[in-house]
Amino acid sequence: MKKTTIDNVAIINIPKIIDEQRRGNLCVIENSVLPYNVERIYYLFDVPSDANRGGHSHIACHELLIALSGSFDVVVKDGENLKTVTLNKPDKGLLIVDGIWRELDNFSSGAVCLVLASETYDEADYIREYSAFLKSKQ
Ligand code: TYD
Repeated sequence: MKKTTIDNVAIINIPKIIDEQRRGNLCVIENSVLPYNVERIYYLFDVPSDANRGGHSHIACHELLIALSGSFDVVVKDGENLKTVTLNKPDKGLLIVDGIWRELDNFSSGAVCLVLASETYDEADYIREYSAFLKSKQ
């Protein structure tokens, strides 16, 4: 497996169409915006403010996380370094490549986390033990 790092985790600007008649904004994501084709879409909502999501890495799957509404924090780790990114804008997505541990917390009331994934759901693509994740990065 190639050794991805948190430097490969980046904010992607989602093209935004601002309505000239002030009818609100429209964001559009086509596969050309992403370094992969989207195979699966899911979203988190009604997350209690004291709850943690994530707590795993993926062997192959890339994901783009977007705060469609509200805000939450994403901690990403590559086994050596970590960074925390707050998502709170529907026109900014956080690209998390394969081989990156992620933890999501600090969800605001009404937060919705949209995820665009490069693979269909496969439990075998998850690493859910942090020690196993560290081993996979050696
Ligand atoms: P999980 O990915 O562990 O959630 P999170 O990382 O946000 O805490 O998924 C939670 C449960 O939902 C787990 O039992 C697997 C299931 N699930 C699916 O069946 N399909 C999916 O596409 C996803 C993302 C999860």
